[in-house]
Amino acid sequence: MSKKVLCCVAWPYANGPRHIGHVAGFGIPSDIFARYQRMAGNDVLMVSGTDEHGTPIQVQADQEGITPIELTDRYNSVIVDDLVDLGLTYDIFTRTTTSIHEETVQKMFTRLLDNGYIYLDSVLGAFSPSTGRALPDRYIEGVCPKCGYEQARGDQCDNCGIQLDPADLKNPRSKINGETPEFKESEHYFLDLPAFKDELRTYIDTVGTANKWRDNVKKFSLNLIDDLHSRAISRDIEWGITIPTDKYRDDNTKKLYVWFDAVIGYLSSSIEWATRFGDNPDSWRDYWNDRDTMTYYFMGKDNITFHTQIWPAELMGVNANSESTSEFGELNLPDNIVSSEFLTMNDEQFSSSRGHVIYVREMLDNYSADALRYYISVAGPEVQDSNFTWEDFVTRNNNELVAGWGNLINRVANLIFKNFGSVPDLKELTDAQANITTTAGGDSNVVNIDELGIALKAEIDAAFDVIGEL
Ligand code: MF3
Ligand code: ZN
Repeated sequence: MSKKVLCCVAWPYANGPRHIGHVAGFGIPSDIFARYQRMAGNDVLMVSGTDEHGTPIQVQADQEGITPIELTDRYNSVIVDDLVDLGLTYDIFTRTTTSIHEETVQKMFTRLLDNGYIYLDSVLGAFSPSTGRALPDRYIEGVCPKCGYEQARGDQCDNCGIQLDPADLKNPRSKINGETPEFKESEHYFLDLPAFKDELRTYIDTVGTANKWRDNVKKFSLNLIDDLHSRAISRDIEWGITIPTDKYRDDNTKKLYVWFDAVIGYLSSSIEWATRFGDNPDSWRDYWNDRDTMTYYFMGKDNITFHTQIWPAELMGVNANSESTSEFGELNLPDNIVSSEFLTMNDEQFSSSRGHVIYVREMLDNYSADALRYYISVAGPEVQDSNFTWEDFVTRNNNELVAGWGNLINRVANLIFKNFGSVPDLKELTDAQANITTTAGGDSNVVNIDELGIALKAEIDAAFDVIGEL
């Protein structure tokens, strides 16, 4: 029986072209998964878009002397071209600057506020003494209060993974100009994550075990549950989604935090998809309200906490309140959160700012998309960091893809073509054969081996039709 599969792919920031480390993390793995599910006869909705709010975008637009939307218009189209040319098969790839996204985010915020999971509090915010402007979290560096890592960022420690507020850092300094930030009282909205502590722990443990989440995701997320604290979900910034409260609706200096809005993109883009391409404007509900739908999320490892804590908490908080369900209905929590590790080069992480980088476009200008797709399939950072070298890239393509797989398929296809003209129909399987197909299908509960066989046969026969015409 055909299953519904929602495939949610992390949204790239629209602040520059994407490099091959990015697409190794979220793009190619999710696309392979979605194509496989479609071949297996399942009904896939694959959604994503560009993540266009947040301080890095504001900071870069300032540096270039343009507006944030001018910047994201430019990079949205660069990124779309790259992803299309890589052969990624999104059902919709939109942006977080659409009105449907803004509306969805504001409704989710209001519902969380009404349900008592968002509250106002005053905190110390970091400001630049020289400009008087708020200093973005990511542009503050200091010592991690938990593990002592020297280069922890104001939002997160990349060494131990804990989420931070800038005021938590010891010896904070501005990454922009090295000055010591000045901390001033500022009022913000907070998401009450501790209210979900037990529910989150149970969710990660039971769903994570039942669906065999990768260790990197499950262990890491469970470890962080003990340190769960409320997170500010507004920022002192002009660029972002308007806070839908009487107090701040007209205040142009405070907006919603980018991560609060970005994860809601999975839902808003599904709603947009239904409006534009679905059978009816409510068809997104098949993927979000139907408990039989399987929902998968793909990302790089630096995104894990946002998908295993903040996003499930937002969903739980919107679902809560049995007196009245929200207009979104009872929303499905993620069934599987799949995270890649990092692709490195010379054992160092890719970095656009340091010029240690290979952009997707450079690859596509010189090689076919399949060469990169193949390389990432076999040598990508699936369960541990993996190191890119040009030598490995060339060897794997020439020796494995072309000489190995290419030859095998070419010979088999030739034999079938000569002897039968098309792929013969599947016969009743022997026990041994049935055993192999079951094993190969794994214990994935969504794959239908017969459907997969029929889809493969159709693809090969279509190829034969082309050969026949030549
Ligand atoms: N823009 C983020 C990054 O590149 C990923 C956002 S995923 C989202 O790290 F779904 F939350 F948007
Ligand atoms: Zn740390």
